[in-house]
Amino acid sequence: MSKILVTGGAGFIGSNFIRILIGQGTHQVVNLDALTYAGNLESLHDVAADERYSFVRADITDVPAIRTAFEQHKPDIVVHFAAESHVDRSVLDATAFVNTNVVGTQVLLDASRANSVQRFVHVSTDEVYGSLGPTGAFTEETPLAPSSPYSASKTGSDLLVRAAFHTHGFPCVTTRCSNNYGPYQFPEKLIPLMIMNALADKNLPVYGDGKNVRDWIYVTDHCKGILAVMEKGRDGEVYNIGGRSEKRNIDVVKTLLAILGKSESLITYVTDRPGHDFRYAIDNTKIRNELGWEPDHTFETALRQTVEWYASHIEWCDRVRSGAYMEYYEKQYGQRLG
Ligand code: NAD
Ligand code: DAU
Repeated sequence: MSKILVTGGAGFIGSNFIRILIGQGTHQVVNLDALTYAGNLESLHDVAADERYSFVRADITDVPAIRTAFEQHKPDIVVHFAAESHVDRSVLDATAFVNTNVVGTQVLLDASRANSVQRFVHVSTDEVYGSLGPTGAFTEETPLAPSSPYSASKTGSDLLVRAAFHTHGFPCVTTRCSNNYGPYQFPEKLIPLMIMNALADKNLPVYGDGKNVRDWIYVTDHCKGILAVMEKGRDGEVYNIGGRSEKRNIDVVKTLLAILGKSESLITYVTDRPGHDFRYAIDNTKIRNELGWEPDHTFETALRQTVEWYASHIEWCDRVRSGAYMEYYEKQYGQRLG
């Protein structure tokens, strides 16, 4: 049984990933997370008592804390999700993005090397490639051209991972995925924000003309891609992951309203995001051919499931919106969130 240290496991994708790992029953999982505003341990309530799961509260920029966590837990594998992940926040203030995404990644690489970690899986994003025009798709050879402070900081982390492989021969592999949706996503991101607002009959703020395109993937399909890379990916390589499901934002929003039976009059066009990338699209040929990965979900079916999940988890949504989710850590672990 290998021991996997997952950073950022209290976030959206990390919590879905941990649920899959625990479900497999073949790994011990250490969830290391600082519990920023985006970290929600309630999302892992169903696995928290499993004997193969443990939680460590630590900030990946805190060198002594990370050193101690690695020495105590001695992970075989690190899967690194922890990041500041929201583009709009990076436009307002890039500081935490540089600290966590760039500095924090180097701290983890150093601790992993010092503790002979056998594989470091770095979870990155298609945003490192910048923006596409109306045609074409990102391959692993597409030049890096990030356009927001978020994507620039993720690019910095990708390059540090690359350097750890080339300089030290450290066994790292990087994934770059497109836009995820599904259960437990923080409602600052397009799909959960629009679902929660529509359920409450609030306005749905669409940036610009709504014609920007994103390539959507259901979160568990992304997680299974990361698992395939963790198990079979080649050291030093990059693997793009994407659902080949391009949609204009306005079409996503109208589809959500149709599923919920709500009026399109809720749509409100608002000032565009500064530097808003026009279009993302992933060419997923490499991971399909080399690792045999395929997405299991179509956008149409999984979007409906996602709407149903939020509609049937109103308490989770309310506690996220009110901030009450932060009390969970205090009750469960007897410590205050500082
Ligand atoms: P999220 O914002 O939901 O979760 C981030 C998690 O990291 C939170 O639990 C937070 O508490 C933790 N964290 C933040 N700073 C930390 C620090 N300094 N130390 C320890 N923990 C810290 O993010 P997400 O949407 O789940 O994304 C996870 C990863 O996947 C990120 O690296 C992101 O760049 C990447 N990614 C996301 C998407 C997407 O569509 N959401 C797509 C491709 C790649
Ligand atoms: O492509 C992968 C990336 O996808 C990840 O690396 C990021 O962590 C993740 O946040 C996501 O970035 P985006 O900026 O594409 O996601 P977001 O949900 O913020 O926005 C999706 C699109 O919807 C984008 O074109 C902006 C638009 N939008 C977003 C919000 C929050 C709106 O029109 N209105 C909104 O209120």
